[in-house]
Amino acid sequence: MGDFATMWSELQDVGRAPSGGYRRFTFATAELECREWFAAQAGHRGLEVETDRNGNVWAWWHPEAASDESALVVGSHLDSVPDGGAFDGPLGIVAAFASIDSLRLDGFIPRRPLAIAAFAEEEGARFGIACAGSRLLTGQLDGDRARGLTDSDGITLAEAARRSGIDPEGMGADPERLKRIGQFVELHIEQGRCLADSGHPIAIAESIWPHGRYRFTFDGESNHAGTTRMEHRRDPMTPCARMIVAAETAGRQANARATIGRLKVEPNGTNAIPSRVTAWLDARAATESDLDALLEQIKFGAAQGAAASAVHVNFEAESVTGLTTFDPLLTERMGSALTVAGLSRGVPVIPTGAGHDAGVLATAGIPSGMLFVRNPSGVSHSPDEFAEAEDCLAGVEALAAVIRELA
Ligand code: GLV
Ligand code: MN
Ligand code: MN
Repeated sequence: MGDFATMWSELQDVGRAPSGGYRRFTFATAELECREWFAAQAGHRGLEVETDRNGNVWAWWHPEAASDESALVVGSHLDSVPDGGAFDGPLGIVAAFASIDSLRLDGFIPRRPLAIAAFAEEEGARFGIACAGSRLLTGQLDGDRARGLTDSDGITLAEAARRSGIDPEGMGADPERLKRIGQFVELHIEQGRCLADSGHPIAIAESIWPHGRYRFTFDGESNHAGTTRMEHRRDPMTPCARMIVAAETAGRQANARATIGRLKVEPNGTNAIPSRVTAWLDARAATESDLDALLEQIKFGAAQGAAASAVHVNFEAESVTGLTTFDPLLTERMGSALTVAGLSRGVPVIPTGAGHDAGVLATAGIPSGMLFVRNPSGVSHSPDEFAEAEDCLAGVEALAAVIRELA
């Protein structure tokens, strides 16, 4: 059994790219290694490990405790975005193991089942749908649709799951498991600068902005870069560029967020006009109507650009999540647990623009809450993501205090 620093160092090199960032993609080698690490940590502590039919991993402490009582679940995820940071996901898992150690040292025994969960494909970096594991569990993602999702090599989620020993036919809503979850608490690195600016090490989440992932496909005509006159082209890159500029302008005007971080150009040759450009938009705003208005403006920009270039544009929403407000009673209990433990006076309660499995579970009606750990620069989804060891340990103590209060 290792303390926080030992566990952290064990994960340090798993899936680390030359950039210093992490590439831990669901059911690929590095992420499977993280799952093995998770099982080993659970084993050291005598926790029962199981993988559910949607690929989420669970480590149970005291599953037999008052089995008519629902479980308190804590945890996060092990997968990363391409070249992501070390903390987004794993901090919540390592802190969960460390907080169990700390509670046990104090002789604490939960009066209800307690589990650590590592949800699959939270980032959607391999198969495109964020929080796929928790969405499947809660029925927000249909099993058939999930099985058919493909990665950039054309491998389906069904096939990747099968190769990892999971029968893909079992994927889909899991109401029995869901019924066992009484509350879910996810500890996470803060992905902004609220805590750095306020001087607090820990915050509690209030809500998650409405957000979604959308796909624009621009279809034009492939041709020679040297011999095709500019006025004869049907180049899909140009309307895509106009859409990107529209997204930037609309995002700024609405104080919202609009990001195009992924493009696919076909056939992707320097001296050929592309036949097709696909662009993925990640859009987020404070309210659902702001998000709708933002999308309308971006779609308008795409349509205008497409018309000017005689290109066809298709728009599709891949996944959309409405405003999530975390359970106010749970949030209040978490706040008082932190105060009682002497960890923080006046813990900030803050909204976030980042999506989380806790949001998906909250949407499914499970009282859920989140703890954020200070991130000095606010940078996340990047190798520069960082939290001081001292603040991570404050997070462990905070999570232990919350578990003590709830379990
Ligand atoms: C998850 O990290 C997201 O907000 O995209
Ligand atoms: Mn993330
Ligand atoms: Mn995360």
